[in-house]
Amino acid sequence: PLHQKSLLVNGQLKIWNGETRPVYSPMLTQGGDGALERVEIGSLPVTGKAEADEALDAAVAAYDNGRGEWPTMSVAQRIACVEDFTRQILAKRSEIVNLLMWEIGKSLPDSEKEFDRTIVYIKDTIDALKKLDNDNSRFQIVDGTIGQIRRSPLGVTLCLGPYNYPLNETFTTLIPALIMGNVVVIKPPKFGALLYYPMLEAFRSAFPAGVVNTIYGKGSELVPYLMGSGKINVLALIGSSRVADQLKKAHPKSNRLRAVLGLDAKNAAIILPDADLDLAVKECIAGSLSFNGQRCTAIKMILVHQSIAEAFLRRFSEAVNALKIGMPWEKGVMITPLPDTEKCAYLTECIEDAKARGARVINEGGGEVAETLFKPAVVFPVSEGMKLYREEQFGPVVPVAPFEDIEDALDYVISSDYGQQVSLFGSDPHQIAALVDPLVNQVCRVNLNCQCQRGPDVFPFAGRKDSAEGTLSVHDALRAFSIRSMVATKE
Ligand code: G3H
Repeated sequence: PLHQKSLLVNGQLKIWNGETRPVYSPMLTQGGDGALERVEIGSLPVTGKAEADEALDAAVAAYDNGRGEWPTMSVAQRIACVEDFTRQILAKRSEIVNLLMWEIGKSLPDSEKEFDRTIVYIKDTIDALKKLDNDNSRFQIVDGTIGQIRRSPLGVTLCLGPYNYPLNETFTTLIPALIMGNVVVIKPPKFGALLYYPMLEAFRSAFPAGVVNTIYGKGSELVPYLMGSGKINVLALIGSSRVADQLKKAHPKSNRLRAVLGLDAKNAAIILPDADLDLAVKECIAGSLSFNGQRCTAIKMILVHQSIAEAFLRRFSEAVNALKIGMPWEKGVMITPLPDTEKCAYLTECIEDAKARGARVINEGGGEVAETLFKPAVVFPVSEGMKLYREEQFGPVVPVAPFEDIEDALDYVISSDYGQQVSLFGSDPHQIAALVDPLVNQVCRVNLNCQCQRGPDVFPFAGRKDSAEGTLSVHDALRAFSIRSMVATKE
């Protein structure tokens, strides 16, 4: 077990003697009485408002209204600090990957991929910044005015990442925020917080005091509290639309807050009558069930043309039944334990609701098999009024609905509260071409004959409606965490 004994505040690793909470893995073991129970893998500090104030004050002081060491440092020096940090965490790769796997139940190859992808993201961000800096340090002379265009930091950033990608998704806001000269307070997610412990020393030694600070404890209390202080300039949240709404409202002056948000989604796959079914099945399996469907980018509804619904469902169910269920370190495993202890009950409720309204589970044995383990379920025909039709299930349940007319499939996308991505499967290039514009005017990424996904991370990651605010990508994030400014004089 790993017991976190210190906090990073104001450039110091402060010993924590206060309350702690146990950290449980979603992995199950047999307890003394024979019943399955979650494995305890360590403990975390439960910090309160006093520590939140301390972290925020340290960040505010380090920024010092833009006069601090970090926001006035040269880009080259900031890059050197980030590179130093990266070298240090690379040396801890196996420890961090192991914690990632144990804390959230992500398969070992996917945990390794998350770490490696994060390192690539950092390197790509540095490269992008070098180019951005070159472009923007150019002088422009217009009508006798000489301008030096810059990108300046925004201030104190509150960084909140999700439990499904506690490392990668948090770092896709943290790194651009830092490298543009902002200071940060990080509140790691509820699951995937312990893995920050081995990184605290790297944060401490690579950055000036107060530039990176961490808090733990009850997010639902501490985060609105911090927002209410009015001292947060940027809210960087990859999480739920509901929480984002609450947090923005908690800030006393909305015009002084920039929000960079990646939120809920209900991405649909649309399967046209002439689709290559083998390809559609393969991509929909990966798209809807990798990491148990716990990806904001996952396919969360399959709309299949009624003429091929039976054939698609037969092949899709067979493929779902063949998925390996087990522990994250087992070779070839796809379905692993879920970290959110309430998830199995919620998924069961969704299935029961669909069954009560005329749908059924069409594959073998979908449903809860243990407290944290849920066998994937394919539910058909899902229709308006069922929870699974509109709610983001974020777990291993795949709703499928038939459509007769392509307009009905388009209407589903148009009437959704979310607008992140769509996958479109079909063979006729003319029909696909005709659908691309209406779709891309509703969501931010249309995937042709392939699954929905965020990566590679140099591509724009955004969403319409309640799915996002602002665009992330290696390049866009540099803009999201800065403001275009200039120094001007007369010829
Ligand atoms: O949960 C959202 C993640 O950013 C998903 O990323 O689709 O590239 O796996 P991915």
